[in-house]
Amino acid sequence: MPVSHSLYNEAGSVAIDYSACTRCGECSRICPTEVLRQEDGVVQVHTESMFGCIACGHCMMVCPAECVRVTGRGISAADLVPLAPPEERADRKALAALMQARRSVRRFREEEPPAELLQQIVAMAASGPMGIPPWDVGCAVIAGRERVQVLAGEVVNGYSGMLRILKPWVLAVMRPIMKRPAFEQMSGFIVPLVKAYIEGRSQGRNLLFYDAPAVLLFHHSPYVDASEAMIACTYAMLAVESMGLGTTMIGAAAPIIRRNQKLCQRLGIPAGNKPAIALIVGYPAVQFRRGVVRHFSSVSSFG
Ligand SMILES: Cc1cc2nc3c(=O)[nH]c(=O)nc-3n(C[C@H](O)[C@H](O)[C@H](O)COP(=O)(O)O)c2cc1C
Repeated sequence: MPVSHSLYNEAGSVAIDYSACTRCGECSRICPTEVLRQEDGVVQVHTESMFGCIACGHCMMVCPAECVRVTGRGISAADLVPLAPPEERADRKALAALMQARRSVRRFREEEPPAELLQQIVAMAASGPMGIPPWDVGCAVIAGRERVQVLAGEVVNGYSGMLRILKPWVLAVMRPIMKRPAFEQMSGFIVPLVKAYIEGRSQGRNLLFYDAPAVLLFHHSPYVDASEAMIACTYAMLAVESMGLGTTMIGAAAPIIRRNQKLCQRLGIPAGNKPAIALIVGYPAVQFRRGVVRHFSSVSSFG
């Protein structure tokens, strides 16, 4: 049985042109689901293996003779692209410099990023890894300050409704049934933040998306974990950085948007998909002069 997906119900299929195959076995060694296995020197296709071909395309990407073709689950040989030579790829130094210089940007210049640039960011982000191919993650592009403000208004309205319910006495009742970190997050972070959003909005300030000229909202189908949308967003963040623009991930918008089906429809989000994370994008109006070293809360080793 193929791995379920919101768009595809079939497994991929692999065809080998045996007249061109050199029997090197590279495709069988790389196949993660053992659909391709070398038997007596010849690679055989075992569609019954595990959940069949997941259409990762690795076999056709490694084949030196270009004789393996994968189709299905949204992929075909037409999707193959040449790779930049190693000297043109970002090395450790270049990537570390980019990552160290990246900052969350909350002040943007007037100029708005053109639509083609936003499309390029989305295309670059789609090169990231997903659990089982193909991506079951989507991206809603909100381009232009006017649209961003409309979306911010909808989210803040949603938060106003939430705050009407979350009165101090309700929080007090919830206290014994909530785990301590959840309660502390709610009373010490979420409630004050929501109050700030609402007050900011009444003063004409957008504390949710700041004054960003664009938002990318990543959402995922019920077949995959929210972490996949987070990965896509992280890739988009680095892509934006590489283009000289700035971003901030905004976690506060998705929990409200996902509860508002009409808004999801207006954003073109397929029914059933859940918004997970937003990324504000624009030209930075701030220049950071130095970086900072950060550490994980714990790094341990096993054994
Ligand atoms: C998952 C996630 C959600 C975030 N949500 C918000 C948010 O809602 N509003 C905001 O201003 N910043 C948000 N941030 C940005 C963080 O506050 C930011 O990373 C932090 O201030 C550290 O700054 P730096 O990114 O420049 O290191 C978020 C970051 C992440 C990774």
